[in-house]
Amino acid sequence: MDDTRTIRLSVNGEQRHCAIAPRQHLVDFLREELGLTGSHLGCEHGVCGACTVRLDGQVVRGCLVLAVQADGRSVETVEGLTEGGSVRDLQDAFVARNALQCGYCTSGMLMAAAELIAAQPDASRETVRAWMSGNYCRCTGYQAIVDAVCDVLARRKVAGSGALTQGADA
Ligand code: FES
Ligand code: FES
Repeated sequence: MDDTRTIRLSVNGEQRHCAIAPRQHLVDFLREELGLTGSHLGCEHGVCGACTVRLDGQVVRGCLVLAVQADGRSVETVEGLTEGGSVRDLQDAFVARNALQCGYCTSGMLMAAAELIAAQPDASRETVRAWMSGNYCRCTGYQAIVDAVCDVLARRKVAGSGALTQGADA
């Protein structure tokens, strides 16, 4: 018996139409069916944030959402976030501050940081620490990640560039 389900969704602005297993998680679907391997799997139960993607503009854990739940909706992955250049300064700050080592957590970190910068352009360092605490890193010790996000907040404030526009080029 064929127990696949057909879903139609937008992924990084591109319309997709796929037959999938009903119990497949969104992050597995993105990685295995669409080849979007920027989102990673760590804990697979909603704790580490490595699988972070946007669903209809909201950050979600891709390991806690079934792909069928994305039917008719819009998904953005780190590939979509970065390809337009809207978070180039954030990527550069991660490099400059040594905020990544193995890089396994980095896609989730970028998704979370972009969400914060868009939502709270005046965020304090304490707010950044609290916000990013939902994403785990095994390598950096977090200080450098917080430094990188704070650098971008400060630079954007000076430049008067305002908040990131979610899912679009700045
Ligand atoms: Fe989804 Fe860890 S793999 S939160
Ligand atoms: Fe290795 Fe974060 S850079 S887990």
